[in-house]
Amino acid sequence: MFSLSTMKKEDWPEVANLIYLSTNHWYETKQGVSAFKGGPGVCLLFCQVYEDLDPDCCLVAKHNETGMILGSCFYHPRETHVSLGIMNVHPNYFGAGVAGALLNEIIDFSKQRKQALRLVSSALNLDSYSLYNRKGFVPTAIYQDMILPVPSNGIDPSAFDLSRVRDATIDDAPAMAALELAISGISRGEDYAYFIKNDQDIWHVSISEDENGELNGFLVSIHHPGSNMLGPGISRDATTCSSLIVAELNQHKGRSPVFLVPADQRDLVDAMYSIGAKNCELHFSQVLGQSPDINGIVMPTFMPETG
Ligand SMILES: CC(C)(COP(=O)(O)OP(=O)(O)OC[C@H]1O[C@@H](n2cnc3c(N)ncnc32)[C@H](O)[C@@H]1OP(=O)(O)O)[C@@H](O)C(=O)NCCC(=O)NCCS
Repeated sequence: MFSLSTMKKEDWPEVANLIYLSTNHWYETKQGVSAFKGGPGVCLLFCQVYEDLDPDCCLVAKHNETGMILGSCFYHPRETHVSLGIMNVHPNYFGAGVAGALLNEIIDFSKQRKQALRLVSSALNLDSYSLYNRKGFVPTAIYQDMILPVPSNGIDPSAFDLSRVRDATIDDAPAMAALELAISGISRGEDYAYFIKNDQDIWHVSISEDENGELNGFLVSIHHPGSNMLGPGISRDATTCSSLIVAELNQHKGRSPVFLVPADQRDLVDAMYSIGAKNCELHFSQVLGQSPDINGIVMPTFMPETG
């Protein structure tokens, strides 16, 4: 019924429309909220950022007779792993094996590279959990999605030590990649250089240094009509992570960004409750293949997908 091919530039509007329609379909029917607002054009963000970072790494499933795009999935090859980006199928074709076919291709790709395939998927979405679980993925961590309306004058930072937090510069990118490798066993240095360069004027990156000037944490955030999130982020401890979150939240005065914190980091979760954060969803990180131990705090995000 359908064939798989690599997304082309002329497919971008249809893929953006599919992401908007398919994701909103699940959130609106199951959660009573919209994931995306503002029209399908906001989801062009995925095509733009992902083609910048990983050209030709989006698979589409096209109907053999009509040419309609029934499903799409981005993937991100990195030096240590492959991560799976946003997966969508048109609701008219749910349950027809479209996502499974896209996933099989990306599983084969990561197996050829002898690398683990990683993703973050909603713990509330059984369709997506089952899709990955049946292919052998194993959940490795639980994350609480928290949302916080940042007052127009910002969050009072006095309860947090922000003295060691500063804006990142391009020279920080290699140390960020090294810290991530040390803490979570994965690496993606070019992503960090891309966020810090910030050609689209949508990213902000904070870093935290210890008393010796050594990097002990960083946190990225994005503000765009298609995504307002904090992450990805890496910290050695909860105190560093809390300070970075407050610093990045204050880049979003008057907005309500979402951020994912590891559910097993009790001190961090309590610190977020203390500033008014509320839970809005739960996510699992899932891995097919080897999953390195985490020796610190990881904050994943969906833009870009960072399993
Ligand atoms: C999640 C989504 C991508 C699945 O796409 P799909 O094309 O319908 O999925 P497929 O038909 O290829 O496969 C679904 C698999 O899950 C299995 N499955 C579904 N519900 C299940 C359940 N409750 N328990 C066990 N298995 C289940 C099916 O049997 C099938 O496995 P099989 O091929 O081995 O039989 C689709 O529902 C979607 O786009 N949803 C909205 C957006 C979204 O949630 N994206 C995922 C974000 S990570």
